Amino acid sequence: MAKIGILGAGSWGTALSLLLSENGHEVTVWSIQKEEVEMLSSKREHLSKLPGVKLPDSICFTGDIASAVVGKDICILAVPSIATRSTAAAMREYVKDGQILVNVAKGIEENTLMTLTEQIEEEIPYANVAVLSGPSHAEEVGRRLPTTCVVGAREKATAEYIQSLFMSKVFRVYTSPDITGIEVGGALKNVIALAAGIADGLGYGDNTKAALITRGITEIARLGVKMGGHLETFAGLTGIGDLIVTCASVHSRNRRAGVLIGEGKSMEEAMKEVKMIVEGVYSTKAAVQLAKKYDVSLPIIEQVNAVLFAGKNPGKAVEDLMMRDGRAESSALPWEQ
Ligand SMILES: NC(=O)c1ccc[n+]([C@@H]2O[C@H](COP(=O)([O-])OP(=O)(O)OC[C@H]3O[C@@H](n4cnc5c(N)ncnc54)[C@H](O)[C@@H]3O)[C@@H](O)[C@H]2O)c1
Repeated sequence: MAKIGILGAGSWGTALSLLLSENGHEVTVWSIQKEEVEMLSSKREHLSKLPGVKLPDSICFTGDIASAVVGKDICILAVPSIATRSTAAAMREYVKDGQILVNVAKGIEENTLMTLTEQIEEEIPYANVAVLSGPSHAEEVGRRLPTTCVVGAREKATAEYIQSLFMSKVFRVYTSPDITGIEVGGALKNVIALAAGIADGLGYGDNTKAALITRGITEIARLGVKMGGHLETFAGLTGIGDLIVTCASVHSRNRRAGVLIGEGKSMEEAMKEVKMIVEGVYSTKAAVQLAKKYDVSLPIIEQVNAVLFAGKNPGKAVEDLMMRDGRAESSALPWEQ
């Protein structure tokens, strides 16, 4: 039995608290929102973010960040990516040397272009920072549907320890040393999910969706490898796996926002209607800057950026993608002489 602190009590933090509690661990969940702590403590359910999922009395909900960090074997950062740095900073004074912190959020910081584990490491340099990611909608984890993820850590022993805490008959975890690859895949799939939603909103079909997923992972991998990730990771659960689930699922808020944009709404209108943080919007800006920094071509992501921030007509964006110069599918495949 481990003592686990979870920072963030939204859909994902709540679903993970159930999983880890059912695995026999002592779980404390912190939220910055007083009303959320009160609701979770009294109703034992997150009524707006994970309705219908009952939480056991053994899970402790708190508004005191110290009690979710001090004495914990691991802490999980499950806040939206735009709050990762501020949450790490708020935790700093309570984190002990070498304490394991697991990031489960997905995003890239817009102004620094840092991944989330890099931000946490910058805020708390003495922590042992890892990441857990993969195709894992909170709604389905909450319903105990079989799910797989990957944990990335600097040391194999850390990854295997975290793996042992999460593994259950409904949650299978693989290990990996490729933290960068895992994080780039997790952040940028949200941009492609916006594109997939836009295509759905425009009334396009399965062919278009398959094209966006397949060419999307090519773009993500192209950038991710330049950033230090490994190509194999993008063919795995946190690459193509997470991209498939996000582009195809009714649960994805990024895809839902895309659908509204494809139907003619502006980005602001779509964000308002989805009522949750649409992380892909922030990741799009970051990805376009990363493309410049690493000198890589990201045609789909650039078109999403033009639709979101320059008011480009979504139909014209798709047409421009289709009418790019013809090229080989993979520059890595040689022609026989
Ligand atoms: N929901 C999922 O299925 C899922 C699955 C895997 C990963 N993730 C990732 O996990 C992260 C959290 O997602 P979510 O779906 O739980 O989000 P959410 O919108 O449901 O939860 C947000 C929660 O974060 C906390 N929060 C909000 N603003 C905060 C702030 N400024 N400072 C500190 N805490 C704050 C609050 O507890 C709030 O309820 C995201 O990066 C997301 O991509 C989500």
